[in-house]
Amino acid sequence: MPTFRTIDDLEPGQRLLVRIDVNAPIEDAVVQDDRRFARHAETIAELLAEDHAIALLAHQGRPGKDTFVSLERHAELLADHLGHAVDFVADTCGEDALAAIDALEPGDVLLLENVRMCEGELPEADPEVKAETELVRTLAPEFDAYVGDAYSAAHRSHASIVGFPLVLDAYAGRVMEAEYTANTALQDRPFDGPVTLVLGGTKAEDTIPVVERLCDTVDRFCLGGVVGELFLRADGHDVGYDVEGTDLFDHQWDDHREAIERILESCGDRLVLPTDLAYDDDGERAETSLEGVTKERPFLDVGAETADRYADLVADSAAVFVKGALGVFEDDRFAHGTVTVLSAIADADCFSVVGGGDTAHSIELYDLEEEDFSRVSLAGGAYVRALTGEPLVGIEVLEHED
Ligand code: 3PG
Repeated sequence: MPTFRTIDDLEPGQRLLVRIDVNAPIEDAVVQDDRRFARHAETIAELLAEDHAIALLAHQGRPGKDTFVSLERHAELLADHLGHAVDFVADTCGEDALAAIDALEPGDVLLLENVRMCEGELPEADPEVKAETELVRTLAPEFDAYVGDAYSAAHRSHASIVGFPLVLDAYAGRVMEAEYTANTALQDRPFDGPVTLVLGGTKAEDTIPVVERLCDTVDRFCLGGVVGELFLRADGHDVGYDVEGTDLFDHQWDDHREAIERILESCGDRLVLPTDLAYDDDGERAETSLEGVTKERPFLDVGAETADRYADLVADSAAVFVKGALGVFEDDRFAHGTVTVLSAIADADCFSVVGGGDTAHSIELYDLEEEDFSRVSLAGGAYVRALTGEPLVGIEVLEHED
């Protein structure tokens, strides 16, 4: 397990460059999910209490996408969460940015412009290469230290994530620390009882490597969503095919069929598959068992019998990790599977991590309490990599020998 210095190790009154991740869904130029803002506000509040002068680096979207926008509004939203002014400068490493950084006093917070607008941030390259970019060479001399808090971007070898820690003293912020500790627990912590993974969602590429890598570590995988149907298809059931109105199944089947069949063969005794499924019957939720099920309709949730069985398995677990929803929970007719299992986790006396930005959203939507889980992770790709034990480059660069 890497050891890194945290913000507890900082001397007060430093000039800090803090990398946060407030990348968010955007519609009509408005941020749709501000939970990452709330989390980083806690790190920043702690830094302010120690009289640091703080410049924040962050990204939003990627060049060419609609979500690739200025961070001006992000500064306002962050200020609301922080209850403290967050200044914004529409520049990242040019003269305006340097002037604004120069003017920073202890207790000031400044958000620099979207770092992906700055040459050198993208594409991914080795940390040594990113440390030589103009972005890093220009900004680093302005600061005493770097704080890495962008756990959810820690799988990206971008300049603002991996370049600065090579040239500045580097520390982990609170989000980095908490996400890292919770998400690697599956690899790092012994559990005194069964470990259960609840896997769903729509992307087989996120889920199948997790099952394959963890077959010997995890006691049971409860499957749902599109991924669950693909496994049912491999198991000989007439589901997991594209029908009118869906294009999620057949291409993923082609891409992952071999791996799914391999997993069923080698790890089948640990897989728990749905025994019933729910669908839309003229606007109402209806359910069918797998007996006689046909591929004519899309299925939108696991059925009640499956949800109860998964809830029982969760209740009997020492640790539960969730990645991906069991159904289309945004439609409350098809939230039953996801909410039943999450409620069972919340009630259970077990270590639990619910991850993947979308899945974590169901907690908010259905009035479950974040406090009832050990961790609600707001990371996507970084969470999946952590589950499988893959190192995150943004963590590795923070490693520190005492
Ligand atoms: C995220 O939101 O998952 C991170 O900020 C990474 O964003 P990216 O996938 O655009 O690199």
